[in-house]
This record gives sequence, structure tokens and C-alpha cells, in this order.
Amino acid sequence: MSIIETDKLTKVFKGDVRAVDGIDFEVKEGEIFGFLGPNGAGKTTTIKMLNTLIPPTSGSAKVAGYDIVKQPSDVRTSIGYVAQDVGVDEHSTGRENLTLYGHFYRLDKATIKQRIAEIFKLVDLEGYEDKMAKTYSGGMRKRLDLAMGLIHNPKLVFMDEPTTGLDPQTRSKIWEYIRKMTKELGITIFLTTHYLEEADQLCNRVAIIDLGKIITTGTPSELKSSIGGDVINLSPGKGDEEARSQFMTNTQKVLEGESFVQRTQPAEEELAVYVDNAKTATPAIMRILAEKGIDVETLSISRPSLDDVFLKYTGKTIRHQEGKETSFTDIARRSERNK
Ligand SMILES: Nc1ncnc2c1ncn2[C@@H]1O[C@H](COP(=O)(O)OP(=O)(O)OP(=O)(O)O)[C@@H](O)[C@H]1O
Ligand SMILES: [Mg+2]
Repeated sequence: MSIIETDKLTKVFKGDVRAVDGIDFEVKEGEIFGFLGPNGAGKTTTIKMLNTLIPPTSGSAKVAGYDIVKQPSDVRTSIGYVAQDVGVDEHSTGRENLTLYGHFYRLDKATIKQRIAEIFKLVDLEGYEDKMAKTYSGGMRKRLDLAMGLIHNPKLVFMDEPTTGLDPQTRSKIWEYIRKMTKELGITIFLTTHYLEEADQLCNRVAIIDLGKIITTGTPSELKSSIGGDVINLSPGKGDEEARSQFMTNTQKVLEGESFVQRTQPAEEELAVYVDNAKTATPAIMRILAEKGIDVETLSISRPSLDDVFLKYTGKTIRHQEGKETSFTDIARRSERNK
């Protein structure tokens, strides 16, 4: 059964910014569903519409069986929300933070007490209930944040970039808690991320989003195998912009005609060459490029990643965008498309 269903969901902000541009997707009960996309892709805007915090400009969605526009209060009581910015009050204890949320959902005292005991156990914060949140480590604070989304026993929890800014070790701990929530409590998770590994390792299914549109949806392995074969990354090494762009054009021209090359794609500093089999293709590529007098400084071979999926559809990589603001090219592409 689906717990989220959208129909051409759209949000246009002032200045004709189409933050979310007619998206259709479905989240099934019990899964961890991820929205993977770079900064400014429209992830938070989507979450906020589904949470009924902002209304859609057009289109519609059903969350936990309720219409987000017509039945917002039913939606709200069915869901939990862990916002992108930490919602913990540092000057209160863990227990006080959770109690406040409990009151917000109109739970009675006994229920709050019981839920706090259960949730603190789930996120391994037992013994820290009455310590000030400001004395918690970053990872503990994030766990408290997750806990706050669970106080009213929702069947669906939205998490907006639950691990952004955390170190890799803390990140994989948080993944464990998220997995536990689905396994032990049967909660469905909708999360957003711009971390490829998070989408790949944590999510059962992923929708890749860019510039307000869903590019493709599937399980991480379906998405990766849709690329097929191996990726050979070629780099001209150091050199100015012109030398690099010449390298890209010449190499693409030479390799695109070869039967063993599926596709080539410039990815910032490197040229990604998609082949059926890197073992046989690599020596052939080196020979062909040497004959044409094209110098390759570094060559690396990888299996297709979700970044290759992103690259295939958008011509850019997520990895290179991490932490960057929306680029001017993105703004130009967005306004070009809106014409
Ligand atoms: N209130 C607003 N008014 C105008 N434009 C907005 C508003 N909120 C978001 N936007 C724009 O909508 C687009 C999508 O923003 P959104 O916050 O949904 O992206 P995101 O995918 O969550 O990005 P990030 O990874 O940086 O959190 C961006 O271009 C952003 O500048
Ligand atoms: Mg966001």
C-alpha cells in the first residue's frame, strides 16, 4: 500500500522560481524512501508541502491517506518531521525537549513518560534524559532530534537531510537508528539527502531530483545497473581551462565512434567513458589515444555509482556540488526551461 502519493505536485515561489515542478511519486508503507539531489533541487520544498507547512501552487498529494490541502490536520497527526535545521532547544534537557513535543501533540502525561522511556532506549540515549541538550555531542543532539519526530508514534516520519554535517562514523550510527525505526516500529521513512552513499546504502528506493523535477526512480541497484558496464575516468591532469576543454572534445570525438564505448560524458575535471568491460576497453583506449597524440595523465576505473546515474541525466555530478550553492548555470537552465 502507498503511504505517500503525489500528482503533479508543484511549488512556484515569487519571481517564478519553480522549486518543485510537477512531481509524481509514490512511497510504499514500511520502506525507507530517499530524495537524492544537490543543493536547491527542491527537496525541502517538497517535504514542507507534504508536511502541510506550505501549500502547493498546483497539483496534489495524499499522505497517510489524507489530502494535504483538504485534510491538513489529519496529515499532521499521522506524521513526524525532523527538520533540516536541528530543532533541539539547547537550554532544556532531553526529557524537556520531548515533553514539549508531546504537549504539542496533546498527549497525556503518562503516555509522554512511557514514550520518552521507549524512544530514549531506541536511540541509545538512556541515562541522558535529564542532562541539558547543550552538553550532548553533535551525534547525540541529532539522535534527540530524531527522537522528537517519534513522540506521538507516527506511522510516517519525514527527515530532511538527517546526517548533513555529521562525520562518517556518526552518520552510519544514525543510519542504524533509522533502520531500527522501520524494522522495530514499522515506521515508513521519507528522507532527503545529497549524500550518494546515504541514498545507496540506507534507502530501499530512491528518487533522483534536480531543478524541481524527478529524473528517475528505483532501487539503488536498479538505478546503477541501468547504466551498465564499467566507467573509465580519464583526466588530462593539470592545465588551463582551454587545454582541458580541448582534451574533452578531442577524446570524446575519438572514442565515441568505437564500438566498445557506450557513451562519454565530461564530468568537471574528468571525462567519464562508459564501456561494457573495462578490462578489454582500457588497453584499447590507451592505444587509440596514443595514436592520436592525446595525453592522459590519470585513468581510473569504477563501477557505476548513483552519481553516474545523476551525471547521465543532468550532465553534472552531485559529488562536485556538495556544499555549493545553486550555480549560475543552474539558474540559467531553470529560466531557459521556463520559457
Ligand atoms: N521561500 C522561498 N522563496 C523563494 N525561493 C525559494 C524559497 N524556498 C526555496 N526557494 C528556492 O527554491 C529552490 C529549491 O529550494 P529547496 O530549499 O527546496 O532546495 P533543497 O533541495 O532543499 O536544497 P538544500 O540541499 O540546499 O537544502 C531553490 O532555488 C531555492 O532558492
Ligand atoms: Mg533543503
